[in-house]
Amino acid sequence: MAEMNFGGVVENVVTREEFPLEKAREVLKNETIAVIGYGVQGPGQALNLRDNGFNVIIGQRKGGKTWEKAIADGWVPGETLFDIEEAAAKGTIIQYLLSDAAQIEVWPKLKPHLTAGKALYFSHGFGITFNDRTGIVPPSDIDVILVAPKGSGTSLRRMFLEGRGLNSSFAIFQDATGKAKERTIALGIGVGSGYLFETDFKREVYSDLTGERGTLMGAIQGILLAQYEVLRENGHTPSEAFNETVEELTQSLMPLFAEKGMDWMYANCSTTAQRGALDWMGPFHDATKPVFAKLYSEVACGNEAQRSIDTNSKSDYREKLEDELKALRESEMWRTGAVVRKLRPENN
Ligand SMILES: NC(=O)c1ccc[n+]([C@@H]2O[C@H](COP(=O)([O-])OP(=O)(O)OC[C@H]3O[C@@H](n4cnc5c(N)ncnc54)[C@H](OP(=O)(O)O)[C@@H]3O)[C@@H](O)[C@H]2O)c1
Repeated sequence: MAEMNFGGVVENVVTREEFPLEKAREVLKNETIAVIGYGVQGPGQALNLRDNGFNVIIGQRKGGKTWEKAIADGWVPGETLFDIEEAAAKGTIIQYLLSDAAQIEVWPKLKPHLTAGKALYFSHGFGITFNDRTGIVPPSDIDVILVAPKGSGTSLRRMFLEGRGLNSSFAIFQDATGKAKERTIALGIGVGSGYLFETDFKREVYSDLTGERGTLMGAIQGILLAQYEVLRENGHTPSEAFNETVEELTQSLMPLFAEKGMDWMYANCSTTAQRGALDWMGPFHDATKPVFAKLYSEVACGNEAQRSIDTNSKSDYREKLEDELKALRESEMWRTGAVVRKLRPENN
């Protein structure tokens, strides 16, 4: 572990220099990694592990499009692709990468295969942290570990293929073998992480749920829409409202503040923009902080988890979700977005 100073706070992180791939391969050389679920994280992690030279098999329920997707990615039925229980029986490390709702449903079938000395691996602290609601209580003689890439499985794979790495958090909930930490870090390196930072299951799920409901998705859509609406209500065209709200942000500013930070952005814009941004960041902060505080408390008391379990375990949840997603897709702002994207020179 290397000590790094993050803005005055010292934290331990693991980098690929100090824990190289060769060491990860050595740690896991006798392990069979069973990746259960081939949705979004499943393929990203499994393909990166396979390309990095680990012994990987997939557990996926048969008969659907996802099974076919696994075959298309080169997994061979009966050799490296099995149904969930068969893969869980063969695996010594079980990467439980079903959707969080499916993890609850499949748990009774998985549990008998979690025999002494195996490791149960999650990419989210949800099932364990809220186990009074999920029923996911592992036996005490296995390791229970977590590596949570901070991004989509699609990005994990894409960045791996580009020679980059997505940062991940890691945590150990239960160390039955005395090897849990070594196994976890080796897996974190194997799935293609950038650097790894330590957390625990509870902090992982609280920050993750807050992040996705907050600035990563929920808050950003809410703020973008509010500005777009105000511009439209004041007579601005969709094209102008969209360009000033979204297109400039994603095309011009995001890449710059990803590379250099928002502090640099502030220091390198016009003095007019500088004055206004400095004056208005306070009111926006003050208006939204109570919403973030409410969000965090809803996460921490388990209400958010319960809402997600209740809605996502209904048999018609996909259809209901699709209605809401359709409304977003067909909103004026995102219909405008589709046209603006098409007009980008690189798409012509
Ligand atoms: N999405 C991400 O990029 C991301 C990022 C970080 C962490 N995570 C965490 O990684 C884990 C996996 O998330 P994900 O987004 O990859 O999941 P997902 O795409 O929603 O998972 C779909 C997988 O679950 C299977 N499944 C769904 N319902 C099932 C059921 N009733 N019985 C058996 N299998 C069922 C699907 O098979 P079928 O296709 O046959 O239904 C598919 O293999 C979660 O803990 C999540 O919080 C995800």
